[in-house]
Amino acid sequence: MAQLWGGRFEGEINELAWKFNASIYFDKRLIKQDVQGSKAHVTMLAKQGIITDGERDQIISGLDSIIKDVEEGKLEITDKYEDIHSFLEANLIDRIGDAGKKMHTGRSRNDQVALDMRLYIREEVKSTAEALYDILDTLNKIMKDNLGTYMPGFTHLQKAQPVTLAHHLGAYFEMFYRDSQRLMDVFTRLNFCPLGSGALAGTTYPLDRDYTAELLHFTGPTANSMDSVSDRDYLIEFLSALSIIMMHLSRFSEEVIIWNSNEYNFVTIDDAYSTGSSIMPQKKNPDIAELVRGKTGRVYGALNSLLVTMKGIPLAYDKDMQEDKEVSFDAIDTVKNCLVLFTDMLRTMKFNKDQMAKSAIRGFTDATDAADYLVNKGVPFRDAHGIIGRIVLHCLEKECGISDLTIEELKGFAPEFDEDIYDAISLKTCVEKRLTVGAPGPKVMEKSIARNDKRLRAYWTGVESFKTE
Ligand code: ARG
Repeated sequence: MAQLWGGRFEGEINELAWKFNASIYFDKRLIKQDVQGSKAHVTMLAKQGIITDGERDQIISGLDSIIKDVEEGKLEITDKYEDIHSFLEANLIDRIGDAGKKMHTGRSRNDQVALDMRLYIREEVKSTAEALYDILDTLNKIMKDNLGTYMPGFTHLQKAQPVTLAHHLGAYFEMFYRDSQRLMDVFTRLNFCPLGSGALAGTTYPLDRDYTAELLHFTGPTANSMDSVSDRDYLIEFLSALSIIMMHLSRFSEEVIIWNSNEYNFVTIDDAYSTGSSIMPQKKNPDIAELVRGKTGRVYGALNSLLVTMKGIPLAYDKDMQEDKEVSFDAIDTVKNCLVLFTDMLRTMKFNKDQMAKSAIRGFTDATDAADYLVNKGVPFRDAHGIIGRIVLHCLEKECGISDLTIEELKGFAPEFDEDIYDAISLKTCVEKRLTVGAPGPKVMEKSIARNDKRLRAYWTGVESFKTE
């Protein structure tokens, strides 16, 4: 055991307690950020005359050599150390001696870990936004090819009105686009530097916190040192944003699973993204979509876990906060994996257009348009609604659709019916005449797609404005 403390202790720590307390098992993930923060810290210490330039240079090259040895497998991160901070400091002192002992001047592990996590999350916010770009781009491409691919739109999972595949997928484009904006908001709010807050009450050394913040590309230093070491709001916001992404992916997965069912048969999932059964030879299951739906619970769990962990913690730092890491790391890995896999599955999925169009014709998806037809002939809407309702009942008994009835039969329900009714309720007319903003009519959908193109072109400017290195 090689700990950073020990002076005031007489006995040894219990072995199980050591393991229980240690975070090295998971915070080794923060090695790069810890070094990045330490380099900025000692650069500031030297500028302020707290250490010499020579000591700064020794520390920086010492840290670089440790990272290099870890990357090349020459140095192992073991649980001999309590956490990644101890590992780096102990190894630094081994390598460069006394100068290494000065690295932690004016710093506590409390502000150090607060910084490391912000640096780490900052990068993950960016890489999640990058992964979202791929699904947005894929959706927009499929939309372009399917302006005239008819399918039923549902409410209550019952056929409602006809839409197009472009329109349906356009709804997901909006959801994932909002998700990307949410990530950008999270970034803006978290982008403040806690380093220099010390254990909780700042320090008596003349630290230049603005300078450290600038070196690490933060908007500025955090405002209150007690808040700095105990704030995990940004993480909760990020986990909320991740949970919402998963909620959207999960709804989409649910639809893919329904579309892929034998009854619907709207889509064929590529063999690369489905699996079989060990007993039933005919099976081809949508496991990826099911797992994405399932893993949503895990990400919600991370959000809930941190909310509950934080709710009873008095100011400022308490060890409970170490629990922020494993759940966050797991949630981040899960969301990124789900986004990549779901996007690939979507890109390779075949849409069975004939089947979708057939399904859009059946199920009285033209009933609203038939009522609107009567309205255009002067019948008040409520009366028209009643007439079409009676026609639907009649058709259900006859097991046919509205357009299967003869004009005489229709006139029997309302004299306003004429030959032009058949064209007015054709699938094509039902979709093409829906031209209000945001509706499925191909003319308005073209505008939506043009707007998506524009949003995708501007996307990288947004992401790149988040400078992390
Ligand atoms: N491993 C700790 C964490 O993740 C680092 C901070 C330790 N601070 C302390 N006062 N023991 O929260």
